[in-house]
Amino acid sequence: MSLIEFAQLLYDSEMGTALRESIYAFPIVEGLHLIGLAFSFGLLMFIDLRLLGVFLESEPAQELLHSLRPWLLVGFVVTVITGILLFIATATKVILLPVFYIKLGFIVLAGINAVVFELKWGRNVDDWGAQSVLPNSIKYAGLASLVLWSVVIIAGRLIPYLNYE
Ligand code: HEM
Repeated sequence: MSLIEFAQLLYDSEMGTALRESIYAFPIVEGLHLIGLAFSFGLLMFIDLRLLGVFLESEPAQELLHSLRPWLLVGFVVTVITGILLFIATATKVILLPVFYIKLGFIVLAGINAVVFELKWGRNVDDWGAQSVLPNSIKYAGLASLVLWSVVIIAGRLIPYLNYE
């Protein structure tokens, strides 16, 4: 089965058709996609800017990570699930958009950066998280996260923009 045939299968599915034909379903799912984004990337920005030492400098990084981590994980799950639903409803068009693959590629890169951060520093944040100025390697991880997720968001915004031309 080709990618186009797979997209057609999703598009014609009961779920795809229902999302498209219901007046409220698609905008509600898209709204939840953005709310998930606010909880995930929105909170992650606080952490990344703290790691860079340009925001909440007096707040210990470990406090921020411990209190925000559960919320941003829930936000990511909501964003990914609603993203898949949005894709199912618009698959035959979105599958042809290069910006969709750019978005998925940067989601993978940002995900790898997040996992490496968690394995190298996140899980023992209590060892370094009370320092006011953090090591450069941690700052670079915060900067990479900010840049990679920003590209995901811009690419995400371009999808509906390019999709309905
Ligand atoms: C995890 C991080 C993600 C972020 C930060 C993100 C961000 C965004 C943003 C900002 C938009 C534009 C919404 C608008 O302006 O109306 C969008 C739209 C979209 N996203 Fe995501 N997204 C993510 C994951 C996903 C995933 C995993 C998929 C599918 C596999 C996906 C599929 C879509 C689709 C199809 C649209 C366009 C919806 C439309 O046509 O209106 N997203 N995303």
